[in-house]
Amino acid sequence: MSRIRTQDWLNEDFDPRVPRRRADLTKGLRGERADRYSDQAIIDEILAHADDPEAQAAAFNPTYQGARYERVWIRNYLGAFYDRRLISDVLRKVKGGKEATVYCCSAGSLAPGDLVAAKIYRPRQFRNLRNDALYRQGREILGARGQPVRDRRALVAIREGTRKGKEMEHVSWLAHEYASLRALHAAGVPVPEPIAFANNTVLMEYCGDAKRPAPALHSVRLSLSEARDLFASLLRDVETMLANGRIHADLSAFNVLYWRGEYRIIDFPQSVDPATHDSALDLLQRDVTRICQYFARYGIASHASALAQAMWERQMI
Ligand SMILES: Nc1ncnc2c1ncn2[C@@H]1O[C@H](COP(=O)(O)OP(=O)(O)O)[C@@H](O)[C@H]1O
Ligand SMILES: [Mg+2]
Repeated sequence: MSRIRTQDWLNEDFDPRVPRRRADLTKGLRGERADRYSDQAIIDEILAHADDPEAQAAAFNPTYQGARYERVWIRNYLGAFYDRRLISDVLRKVKGGKEATVYCCSAGSLAPGDLVAAKIYRPRQFRNLRNDALYRQGREILGARGQPVRDRRALVAIREGTRKGKEMEHVSWLAHEYASLRALHAAGVPVPEPIAFANNTVLMEYCGDAKRPAPALHSVRLSLSEARDLFASLLRDVETMLANGRIHADLSAFNVLYWRGEYRIIDFPQSVDPATHDSALDLLQRDVTRICQYFARYGIASHASALAQAMWERQMI
């Protein structure tokens, strides 16, 4: 048994019908814990998608084609948004990460703006699990419509780690990103406006233009006065998030997009509730420290843990 490596099926020459060499099949097995599925189960899943007649017949024929199985993936996950007129085309792949791939789409008639970002999470089996457990602590499980799951049998399935339970945790992880974006957008924090959530995908406002996605802050050169303003704004945002029951918990110059003097904080699936998470203050301090470290390159000196502590006292005590 092994897992198909995450990137394989987005490669042009990948074909799940062709068995990989034995050496490949055993690679990566050591040290991997549960949540393994047989190759066959994973291959079956891809083929089920590949042969889905509804998906094949759909009118949705995006400009961006991508690799062979990526096309199947795009049709399956984004087809419903096309049908709901939230997107009208897929223009380009912005970035494939460990956990999700982000595409730039043109907005459909029912979505705001001209462009929309589609963040497609990998199905659970293809995901490179990060240390989710730390972030899940103290959180409610959210269902496919973002509602808290209270059903006893479902909660038992999650506790026992059954296949269904793991699937629910996966959905909850995405739902959590969407719920966080909604809450923070409503609170005036500069996050991408969330548009929809379904099919392993979060649809949101796109940062950048059709030619070039917004770069992350870490690769932008700011003037000194821009840097000072942005530093102050980000600290204010972290505090507003705290006041609204969220700590980002993976905040850094990689998760802030910067575009023509504006910015958006992104990537919220791991965000935690400061009222219920045991390590909330540590996570807040880590976020603030990373922000302070980034701005130190502009000669902005700060005392991260004192700043975080003061925020905590103002908002939580
Ligand atoms: N709304 C967006 N507009 C434009 N690009 C985006 C948007 N959201 C994400 N991206 C791009 O996709 C990358 C990955 O998204 P992110 O949410 O950070 O997921 P992860 O880091 O977990 O893979 C980002 O670094 C950024 O380049
Ligand atoms: Mg990220």
